Amino acid sequence: MKNLILYASKNNTTEETVSRIMTHAIHPLAIHKISEVGDLDLSGYSHIYIGAGIYGGKLPNSVTTYVKKNKESLCQRPVTFFIHGLDSQEIYSRIVNQGVSRYLDSQSYDSVYLGGKLDISTQNFLIRMILTEIAKKNHFDPNMADTRKEETILELIKRF
Ligand SMILES: Cc1cc2nc3c(=O)[nH]c(=O)nc-3n(C[C@H](O)[C@H](O)[C@H](O)COP(=O)(O)O)c2cc1C
Repeated sequence: MKNLILYASKNNTTEETVSRIMTHAIHPLAIHKISEVGDLDLSGYSHIYIGAGIYGGKLPNSVTTYVKKNKESLCQRPVTFFIHGLDSQEIYSRIVNQGVSRYLDSQSYDSVYLGGKLDISTQNFLIRMILTEIAKKNHFDPNMADTRKEETILELIKRF
């Protein structure tokens, strides 16, 4: 049976992680953007991985909407959320739970936090201000915001 990755990525971090997984995967794997996956039949997949970045302390709407719509199929197989975020190490599992726990049985899913990355030069003024504050609080360089946890990413890649 195949693994399936569904993902949402607004600033390419999750997309980059998914590309790395695709390059190294040795087991059968299907990959879709969650916004483009439509009514894919999930019954042929043994484990479903859902990747996304955190925005404003939440999972993207595309992810929660998909989980709500497909809760019956998702409940029947293990689901792992792999989450990028610049500063949500302490609260990521609460963020995932807030987004999906009303649709999925808590025993059937888990989540992995991978840190995040953001090129702030591509963001608007307001976001740049917010990011500068986050960077100050967390002692990282706002011009090169990259808090990704390479070891955890490598562990995730090895699962495929
Ligand atoms: C508008 C905006 C809001 C963000 N909000 C959060 C947040 O609440 N918590 C966090 O840890 N990271 C936050 N981030 C950082 C993103 O989660 C990080 O850049 C992540 O790597 C993005 O993943 P993606 O490019 O796959 O969407 C935010 C970034 C932007 C641009």
